[in-house]
This record gives sequence, C-alpha cells and structure tokens, in this order.
Amino acid sequence: MIRNIPEPILNLLYEIGEVAGKNAYLVGGFVRDLLLKQPSLDIDIVVEGDAIRVAKAMCDRWNGTLEVHPQFGTATVTHGNIDLPKVDFVTARRETYQGAGTLPIVQSGKITDDLRRRDFSINALAMRLDPNAFGTIVDKTGGLADLEAGIIRVLHKQSFIDDPTRIFRASRYAGRYGFRIAETDVVLIQETLPILPQLSGERIRNEIDRVLLEKNAAKIVEHLAELGVWETIFTDWHISATFADDFKKAEQAITWASAHLEDEAFQPDRVRWMTLFGTHTPIYQIEAISFRLVLEHQLQRLISRTQAMKRGVSLEEVTVPVFEKLGFPLSKNTSIKQHNGMWCIVDPDNMKTYVCGDGNLYRVQTPLTAYKQLEQTVTTLKETVKPSEIYQLLKPYPIEALVLGSVDARVPEWKREKIADYLFTLRKTQPFITGDDLIALGEKPGKTFETVLWELFAAQLDGKTATKSEAFRHLRGFKDHAPAK
Ligand code: CTP
Repeated sequence: MIRNIPEPILNLLYEIGEVAGKNAYLVGGFVRDLLLKQPSLDIDIVVEGDAIRVAKAMCDRWNGTLEVHPQFGTATVTHGNIDLPKVDFVTARRETYQGAGTLPIVQSGKITDDLRRRDFSINALAMRLDPNAFGTIVDKTGGLADLEAGIIRVLHKQSFIDDPTRIFRASRYAGRYGFRIAETDVVLIQETLPILPQLSGERIRNEIDRVLLEKNAAKIVEHLAELGVWETIFTDWHISATFADDFKKAEQAITWASAHLEDEAFQPDRVRWMTLFGTHTPIYQIEAISFRLVLEHQLQRLISRTQAMKRGVSLEEVTVPVFEKLGFPLSKNTSIKQHNGMWCIVDPDNMKTYVCGDGNLYRVQTPLTAYKQLEQTVTTLKETVKPSEIYQLLKPYPIEALVLGSVDARVPEWKREKIADYLFTLRKTQPFITGDDLIALGEKPGKTFETVLWELFAAQLDGKTATKSEAFRHLRGFKDHAPAK
C-alpha cells in the first residue's frame, strides 16, 4: 500500500513519524483513498497528546509557515517547498453531542476515541507513522472489510442524529465510489429525516455545494431524492424532473465558459444551483428556497425591523410605500406570495426578488430569475436584430444566465450565436467617444447628451464607425441633422 503514496508525500510522512513517533497517525480521506488507489491531497495527521507542538517542530524542519488554532488544538503547516501539500495536525479527541444538529463538545483522547467519533467505517481508518510500524493500518470499526465490500456504514446508531449532514456525506461517498449504503443505515437515515431541517441553512448549503462539485453529482442528487432528503429540507420541494439533463447542460456551460470567458465575475456554482432548482418550479418558491439555502448568510440586510412586518398588517398594504421609501420602486407586474412563513416579492420587470421573514427584509437578485426572463427576451428576437439592439437587450443580465442561454439546446442556434456575440464581443466593446470627449467639445451632461453618447456607441456596435475619427465624423453629421434649437 505504501507503494501507492507519491514519493514526496511519503517523505513528509516518514519525517512526521521520526519526530512524533507512535503518537502520530495519518487518518481520514487520505487513508481511504490510498486503499482505494485513488489520488488524495488532504493530509490529516492525528496526534495523541499535543498536535500543536508536533506541528511547530515540523514547521521548523520544513522551513514552512504555521497557522495555529489553539482553541481546537489544531495547526496547519505549509511546507517551505510550495509544491508540497499542506499538512493538518489535529489533537486526538473525543466528541459528545448534546443535541441533534448541534456542534459537539470536544475533549482530548486517544486515537481509538478519535476514530470512533467519525462518520463512517471507511473514514475511520488510520495509518501508523512511527518508524517501527510505519504503514500499519489501525482498523477498530471494520473499515477495511467495508472498503472491500463497497459499503458505507456508520459506527453507531446515533451517528446521523448527532450530525445529520452525514446523510449528504453517505450519499456523496456512495455516488463517488459506486458503493452502497448499508441497509441498516438506510433505516437510520429515514428515522433522522424529520430533524434534517434543524440544520442551519449554511450547513445544508455547504453540503449541497460539496455534492454539486462531485463528478457524479447528478446521480447523488437523485439518490438523495430517493432517500426523501429534498422534500424534507423544504416541504413539497421536489427536484426537477429534468435535473440530470439540466445538470449535464450546466456542466457543458461551465466548461464552455471557463474555456472562453476570462470573466472573474462568472460563478460556476451559481449555474449548478440554478439547475438544482429546475426551471419548472414557480419562481417564488425557487427564490424562497434559495433564500434559505444559498443566501441566508450572505444577503445584505436592508432593514432589521420594519413597521411593515408587525403582526396583523398585510404585506400587500405596506409593501409598495416601504419599497418606494427604500428606493426600490416595484413594477406593476410584481407578485407577492407567502411560502413557508416567508414573503417573497418577485418583480419580474426589474429582475429583482425581495424576501421577508423573521422581521427582516432582504433583496435577492438571482441569476435564475434573470434566466427565466432571458428566455422570454430571447423568444422575441428577430434574425434582423442589430448588434446595438442585442446589446441593449442583454446588458441587464448576469453573466451566468447568459452562459446558460448560450448553450441551452432549446434556444435556436442563431439566437445562441447572438448571445455568444454579446458575451465575447459586444459586452467588451469600449466606446470610441466617451462623455469626457463630449464635454471637451463643449456639450453639457443631460438627457440629450446621454442620447448622443448612446447613438454614437450604437453606430460603433453596428459597424457604421470603425475608428475614433470616423466616430467624430459621425457625430458632426449627427449635429448637422439635429433640429435647430
Ligand atoms: N468527519 C466526520 N463527520 C463529519 C465530517 C467529517 O466524521 N460530518 C471526519 C471523517 O473521518 C472524514 C474527516 O473527518 O474522513 C475529514 O472530513 P472531510 O475533509 O469532510 O472528508 P474527507 O474524508 O477528506 O472526504 P472528501 O474526500 O470528500 O474531502
């Protein structure tokens, strides 16, 4: 087995063993993946005793840098040679859980305690690092047999209740390695489902993020659906029937975008999330879900407690004036719905969504809302549409929505080419003539000024002007034809 460890990493492990002797163990995902002959870069070392002391000694030896978290008894060492991976050192610990979904109480312990607190037998394997027994596997929970048989199994009946994120993890490992979850564990998962919603939105979001990054994400998402996970997190939420196809499309879009766009603003995880919610769920519901799962911890708080949210006052009555006051006028097509105790205000004309709950009001602008609207915009396109018109139509959309539109097979090819033209060329075009140029010519900023500036830019986008001097000539022609004041 040791032969499967890349030599530079093997040397690191030998050195740790020389310094820490029989107190240090390689643990977790690295050992599991080593036995499965899969590559792994996360090096986690458990130390019986003082992990920080060992980390400091290794840091000196490797001329590295040290990051210490004394409250957790952990430290990370970055090797002086930056080509080598970081190494995490953790003090062996015992964990006790006080309640479902809460974080555990931690005490220092022996390696056996540390392995027994873990999620699955395949993750509870350790490898000894002391020179006398280097490479010996410590298996206290039948992990080797489960790896051999391809089974995901928790270490005790309470495990999913202690930490319901393990439901996602079980499905993720099963999907990743083609393993199955032990039948007894499937029963335990069913029993744990009712407490799944007690997890914070952030913890659920982290787990879903990790699922969506897996190569077999579509399979894992469907497996979680079979287990009843999605409908439990949010009442009545079913994963889109077209999820597998949509996800494939999203991955194509992401590959396409990373090959073609150097746009830092492009966020692949947003595209994946959009797929997860599907395109058939009513918008308000999608937004409410994304509020809870995606945005709960990120949204800018606009007002902490408004008069409007006081009990007994209907939101409709107060929404418009409150929003006007905040500087967010609502269009007449705005719909207001209540979902799972939260109000969701979707203003499709302005591509904005507002969510209210717990007395707080949040503004959300998701690419999904935008993509829905982009689909409508695209249906109105005519083949004769000018580049300047495309520019105006597509400018308001976030990049993720445009990327998805440009690879959506339901959109006719010539329309997708128009979107791609906007993404690659029009969007990046710099105007020949700017506001400063007009001011230098004695023009005063105002409505006419804006119109002239746009007309000049439109002429440029439409290929009527190819250089700055041509643009100035165009401007003169423009002025000659302007009505006399
Ligand atoms: N762990 C656990 N319970 C959790 C999360 C983690 O017991 N809810 C333990 C497992 O032993 C796991 C280790 O902590 O192996 C490290 O966790 P993590 O980095 O999330 O998992 P990896 O095993 O490294 O798996 P992956 O390859 O998905 O990163």
